[in-house]
Amino acid sequence: MSREELRDKLIEEAWEGLKNSYSPYSKFPVGAAAMGADGTVYRGCNIENVSYGLTVCGERTAIFNMVAHGCKTFTALAVVSKGNGDSAPCGACRQVLGEFCESLDTPIYIVGGDGKVLETTVGECMPYPFLKFEPQE
Ligand code: THU
Repeated sequence: MSREELRDKLIEEAWEGLKNSYSPYSKFPVGAAAMGADGTVYRGCNIENVSYGLTVCGERTAIFNMVAHGCKTFTALAVVSKGNGDSAPCGACRQVLGEFCESLDTPIYIVGGDGKVLETTVGECMPYPFLKFEPQE
């Protein structure tokens, strides 16, 4: 599959993921899809809670879905939303994307309400990531 075909497929899958969004509070449904290094597409959607801070974004549910299925690396990710505003990954999601991306060049496709595709990478979204540490005695 070419890079463009993969991009288009992931965007389509992210729209499918969005259909399962549980977002009664923000009324801002988000869908995401990650291509796993195992060749499987893992979908996600935002899942909100009446205790607002417990909400989890679409990007993280896609990645957690992937990890829960035994795959720890993604090679590309798409995130889509409708309406005004865009769904550029939040800071918490960027940290999680950094943990499980194939490399900092791993592409991220962000589709906003206007339908335009913003193409970026994990490294552009998350420069100087905190990815490892040495336990101190
Ligand atoms: N949200 C995402 O799912 N992904 C993003 O990239 C930004 C925000 C969700 C969280 C919440 O359910 C709603 O969008 C409004 O913030």
